[in-house]
Amino acid sequence: MPTLDVSVVGELNLDIIFYGLPEKLELEREHLAKELSITLGSSSAIFAHNLSCLGDRVGFSSCIGSDPLGEICLKRLGEGGVDISQVRKFAGKTTGLTAILPQRKERYILTYPGTMYDLSLAHLDLSYIFSAKHLHLSSYFLQKGLRPAMVELFRKAKEAGLSTSLDTNDDPDNRWSPDIQLVFKYVDILLPNENEACKLAGAADFRQAAEILSKKVPLVVIKRGSQGAYARRGAEKLEGFPPPVTSVDVVGAGDSFDAGFIRQFIRGASPADCLQYANIVGIAKPSCASTPLPWQAAIAPLARRGTLQSG
Ligand SMILES: Nc1ncnc2c1ncn2[C@@H]1O[C@H](COP(=O)(O)OP(=O)(O)O)[C@@H](O)[C@H]1O
Ligand SMILES: [Mg+2]
Repeated sequence: MPTLDVSVVGELNLDIIFYGLPEKLELEREHLAKELSITLGSSSAIFAHNLSCLGDRVGFSSCIGSDPLGEICLKRLGEGGVDISQVRKFAGKTTGLTAILPQRKERYILTYPGTMYDLSLAHLDLSYIFSAKHLHLSSYFLQKGLRPAMVELFRKAKEAGLSTSLDTNDDPDNRWSPDIQLVFKYVDILLPNENEACKLAGAADFRQAAEILSKKVPLVVIKRGSQGAYARRGAEKLEGFPPPVTSVDVVGAGDSFDAGFIRQFIRGASPADCLQYANIVGIAKPSCASTPLPWQAAIAPLARRGTLQSG
């Protein structure tokens, strides 16, 4: 029996979110936010945290610096039930940080990478990582230290019998360099958003991107914000939509979607069921708070219909 359900390898930092800023930001002016949220950030950590909150056993392999921000990240992950024993602390280094400035439908995302660039294969305990059923990696282009060994990591995971998933997220350099195509050979599920899928495939639209990427990975799931998600498994095409909602905080929606999808996938659910559940988790953003939250109410009917196994 694997010790873990899912191993997550990736970056760890806090997000500072400035809500309610003016739409037009001007240099040398003081702009006031209406609300501030300091929360667990980074695609990898949000995925790990939210998957753990859904009930899976999640191990996180990452690193932080020797600063209080890193300690807060660790505390939040630990409170979410994630195994943080494989998070390395690098003395004298600074943990990364992201500032998010949401605008009407989009957001500015400003990141200081810090220790994100320092994680390398030498810091990973592969026997720990491969004790899981599944390996997930987020933010490929931010893993500068790991990138040279990414093919090896994924190849070894497949050899060890794990299923694998990859959410590339954005490439801050906007190069989308071809080394990632070599990793695709060992990826079972690719989870980009629409823009990322088009960039990865060199395609004009998400359907064409899915067509191209479906020849490289067995299952492509393209996240489309309020339009839900579009999946391709070979020639099979699927669409899933989020339940109607009046307002959504989209920060972390893609990572929460991924967590929902993988939770179902490793239980052998069909892509259609994975999509349905992921679209709910995407907007519901699971939390480990003990009081019932809207997402729990939202997934209860699915659980009753047997689509879900509760953790
Ligand atoms: N405005 C929205 N309304 C409803 N659901 C949304 C909205 N934005 C995101 N979602 C849900 O979250 C998922 C992932 O969001 P998306 O923005 O596409 O990903 P990413 O954060 O990776 O760019 C969507 O597939 C959908 O299920
Ligand atoms: Mg994303």
